[in-house]
Amino acid sequence: MNDYPQVLFAGRRPGTTNFLAGYEAGGGYRGLRKALTMSPAGIRELVKAAGLRGRGGAGFPTGVKWSFFPEAPGEKYLLANGDEMEPGTYKDRQLLLADPHQLVEGMAIAAFAMQIPHGYVFLRYAYEECARNVERAIAEAEEKGYLGRNILGSGFSFELHVHRSAGRYILGEETALINGLEGRRPNPRSKPPFPAQAGLFGKPTNVNNIETYCNVPHILVNGADWYQGLSRTPEGAGTMLVGLSGHLHRTEVFELPMGIPLREVIEQVGGGVRGGRRFKACLPGGASTPFLTASQLDTPLDHVHLEQAGSRLGTAGVTVFDDTTCMVAATLNLARFFARESCGWCTPCRDGLQVVVWLLEEIEAGRGHAELLAMLRDQVRNIRGRSFCALAEGAMGPVGALLDRFGDELEDHIARGRCPLKR
Ligand SMILES: Cc1cc2nc3c(=O)[nH]c(=O)nc-3n(C[C@H](O)[C@H](O)[C@H](O)COP(=O)(O)O)c2cc1C
Ligand code: SF4
Repeated sequence: MNDYPQVLFAGRRPGTTNFLAGYEAGGGYRGLRKALTMSPAGIRELVKAAGLRGRGGAGFPTGVKWSFFPEAPGEKYLLANGDEMEPGTYKDRQLLLADPHQLVEGMAIAAFAMQIPHGYVFLRYAYEECARNVERAIAEAEEKGYLGRNILGSGFSFELHVHRSAGRYILGEETALINGLEGRRPNPRSKPPFPAQAGLFGKPTNVNNIETYCNVPHILVNGADWYQGLSRTPEGAGTMLVGLSGHLHRTEVFELPMGIPLREVIEQVGGGVRGGRRFKACLPGGASTPFLTASQLDTPLDHVHLEQAGSRLGTAGVTVFDDTTCMVAATLNLARFFARESCGWCTPCRDGLQVVVWLLEEIEAGRGHAELLAMLRDQVRNIRGRSFCALAEGAMGPVGALLDRFGDELEDHIARGRCPLKR
């Protein structure tokens, strides 16, 4: 993708892992060297000025999060969230297959900026090759003095370990992740207290996504203005990894400027809808984001514009559906995933998602009627804002969009007593 800035992948393709020699030859660890000449507060301000927003789904401004963190020395933890079980999201995996040192360097800078002595990289159970890559990168970085005691003679020490997840979607929720790391059942914890106040083992803990940390060395080396300037829109900053899936010619991860229009992503980067079919809808940011329709193809992919369009950037996993897709069946498939992955802690999610699945199954099978449709609307209203964590809220993203944007398709199923798209 020569026409697009390559910052996170640094021009490398996944499948050719960049270990220490290659990473250093491409300028690796210059960001850490620079960071160690700055004050921790200066680094936090720089990341804030760059406008970096978290890439794990919620899009919280990273520098702002870091500025809430207690700087005083003590037992504190830095966690990288690589659980990555959201359907349609596989960008952290590609990043770690291509460039594991970038994560190590980003975490070392973040640790210095918040004066944190211990870190864990929490990885999806199926990402064994990524785990081995990160373990090797950690060993190489320790050997060269980029990690461990007295990093590059600065007096600052940071040790880093890899932890393999037990393998449930809920472990990606940051407080469930913390419970999982402690060896407890991974139900989310109530907030407050936030992890920055009382997280892992009750100590201040910062959690960021893998890709979020990987942006940091580049901001240190090139500055906030440069990073802001990578975006196509003033509302965004930097580049992002966009994972394409569904009915496209090319389904890979691409590094693209923030603010790139959805149409360009689909038609140019993804090579268009496959088989000469027409675009019908897409999930713009992973399975928990509301569908966008053909009339919204000119929406710029950044947090602000996607929210204005009634969706979210989420993890920037773009899944495309062509005009042969039954949106009821597609939504049912997503709802089944979320219902299965509910941790069971709160009733609206544990029971409500099962009811949503049943209602969609009935309608898709041609057994729907007006009352079931009204029940589906009620369930969405009941689950939204009433569940303990964002899993159920996210599950309602596509279901709510089905009701709002494809209501005619639901009604058509009911009127015909069958799925209109099933042959
Ligand atoms: C059900 C659920 C699953 C999540 N899975 C992930 C995940 O796999 N990776 C991730 O970084 N964030 C995930 N998150 C978001 C995290 O709770 C947290 O906001 C994020 O790790 C913070 O990092 P960021 O600020 O860099 O985005 C998930 C949230 C929920 C509710
Ligand atoms: S919303 Fe679902 S996943 Fe979250 S705490 Fe409740 S039951 Fe668990």
